[in-house]
Amino acid sequence: MTLQIKSLEEYHKVYKGSIDQPEKFWAKQARTFEWRKPWKKVLEYEFDSPNVKWFIGGKLNITENCLDRHLKDRGDQIALIWEPNDPSQVYKTYTYKELYTEVCRCANMLKANGIKKGDRVCFYMPMVPELTIAVLACARIGAIHSVVFAGFSANALADRIKDATCKMVICSDYNARGAKLIPVKAVVDEALTMDCDSVETVLVFKNTGDKVKMKRNRDKWWHNEIEGQRKTCRAAQMDSEDILFILYTSGSTGKPKGVVHTCGGYMVYTCFSFKNVFQYKPGDIYWCTADIGWITGHSYIIYGPLLAGATTMMFEGVPTFPDAGRFWHICEKHKVNQFYTAPTAIRALMAKGDHWPTHYDLNSLKVLGTVGEPINEEAWNWYKEKIGKNKLPIVDTWWQTETGGIMISGLGDISPQKPTYAGYPLPGIQMCLVNSDGKEIRGKDKEGLLCIKFPWPSMIRTTYGDHERCRQVYFSAFKGMYFTGDGARRDKKGMYRIIGRVDDVINVSGHRMGTAEVENAINEHPQVIESAVVGYPHDIKGQGIYAYVISQDKAVDDAFRKEILQVVTKEIGPIAKPDKIQFVSGLPKTRSGKIMRRILRKIASGDTSRLGDVSTLLNPEVVKAIKAGALS
Ligand code: PRX
Repeated sequence: MTLQIKSLEEYHKVYKGSIDQPEKFWAKQARTFEWRKPWKKVLEYEFDSPNVKWFIGGKLNITENCLDRHLKDRGDQIALIWEPNDPSQVYKTYTYKELYTEVCRCANMLKANGIKKGDRVCFYMPMVPELTIAVLACARIGAIHSVVFAGFSANALADRIKDATCKMVICSDYNARGAKLIPVKAVVDEALTMDCDSVETVLVFKNTGDKVKMKRNRDKWWHNEIEGQRKTCRAAQMDSEDILFILYTSGSTGKPKGVVHTCGGYMVYTCFSFKNVFQYKPGDIYWCTADIGWITGHSYIIYGPLLAGATTMMFEGVPTFPDAGRFWHICEKHKVNQFYTAPTAIRALMAKGDHWPTHYDLNSLKVLGTVGEPINEEAWNWYKEKIGKNKLPIVDTWWQTETGGIMISGLGDISPQKPTYAGYPLPGIQMCLVNSDGKEIRGKDKEGLLCIKFPWPSMIRTTYGDHERCRQVYFSAFKGMYFTGDGARRDKKGMYRIIGRVDDVINVSGHRMGTAEVENAINEHPQVIESAVVGYPHDIKGQGIYAYVISQDKAVDDAFRKEILQVVTKEIGPIAKPDKIQFVSGLPKTRSGKIMRRILRKIASGDTSRLGDVSTLLNPEVVKAIKAGALS
């Protein structure tokens, strides 16, 4: 069985061993899984290209480890609980046996529809069990899944379908989110008008049953196609380094990139981190509230928990529907033991009043988790006090789409608690701080740029179709290091606190966005000449989006603002809509023409007192005007 650390002393001991002999450590963990063929070499790497390979020559199928190997001992244990958007609808459960059968039937359906090993399948789905089933079905036959969060627009979906040249799109008819019905099939139809020539089939899951248009010879109903499919499906034999999935994420430049994760290392790391961070014990009910459209859902709703033989729950709805007690109601209803959510959700619920959690019995809870953005002290204290009754540990888990799994976090109730500190790195994770020259900052009580100086099994292998971009973004800043893009502080005890992004990436309600991406969207409005987007502190969202826009002819009024919001919604999706739009006559630029975002960030945050020296700017006069017109 995968190691589960039981005390702080053991953690320190295991950590040391994992750093002294990383290959030995990870080989030991990897041996707890079922491999069709053992690996010949544990690790091969160099960060310059980059080239990272784990468990070289090993053959496996991750779904045999998620499902088949559990059938003997826990076939009748519940693997998956599904809680619907509408609380009056009955919830569903799948035992490991049932989930295995459904995954096999679905895998056979995919094969019958022409999907083969290596093909890319795009998902644009609500949080229904069929999403988990079909993701695992892809993995079973060696197809590569690319799940796109269903809040993205048709344009954004089309970009992702094209980049990965997907052969199939799996969607639902409509998504139910809170009181809203979202016509997802129509969004897919629109995306497919945008040169998505690789798509041969659209598989439509009937979710709400509301009317949709079906295109002949392309669109097929899931319920028709699944009928009569066999209940077993031999899993494809995958190489440890074959691609398991692609997941798009935003960076500081240009279009989102497809982060590639591979089978062997991802399997080993997600299971290991899940068991240790959440201190999952047999019989526990674990709930992560993330959407499977993000990495958290991939690693800690689907793969990590199922690999560990856990009972994992997925929730279709939103935290405030039908009211702000929904999360706590679900915790009570299903006797949840580990609860994992985002700071933005905690802040939103905190704002609704302290009485909501008091209506529910939260005694089953053992571990509370957070992820996605820095948690402020007020939210941390509220979570600890109102949900944890001052007794439960909070695991503040720092990681990224690219890291595949949790890198820094407390381990259940084992680790010391310090508000706003994520804590110690997990075993095998060699975090470090560097200064802007790339020199490692050693010692305690230090601040710097957060890097990782040794590979770990679930790390990004490449960016799909563009390896050079992967090198450039993550491995070129500092030699021999993976650069996270975050700044961090290490305290006297060696615990880490994440300060936030140091690049042009903003984090809005835990959603990662590139400022360039939002600017490109705004610039699509024909009357916009140029724009600059920065983040600013926001009480609920963590960061809000502040856009400075130069327009020419158009009257600068709220109608124009609305048009800009529509353009952004069309280009990316509602999550990227600026909270504030300030019309300006110019943007502060350096003599080489680069926008001085530092100044814009300060003004957006309401701090106009110390803007530093602006005299070296190409156009220092605009700063005064921007300051005068700043929106509060
Ligand atoms: O800035 C960090 C922030 O989210 C970024 C990664 O975003 P994404 O790839 O979308 O993955 C989010 C879920 C894993 C990081 O670079 N971040 C993530 N977790 C934390 C965090 N910032 C502070 N504390 C965290 N616990």
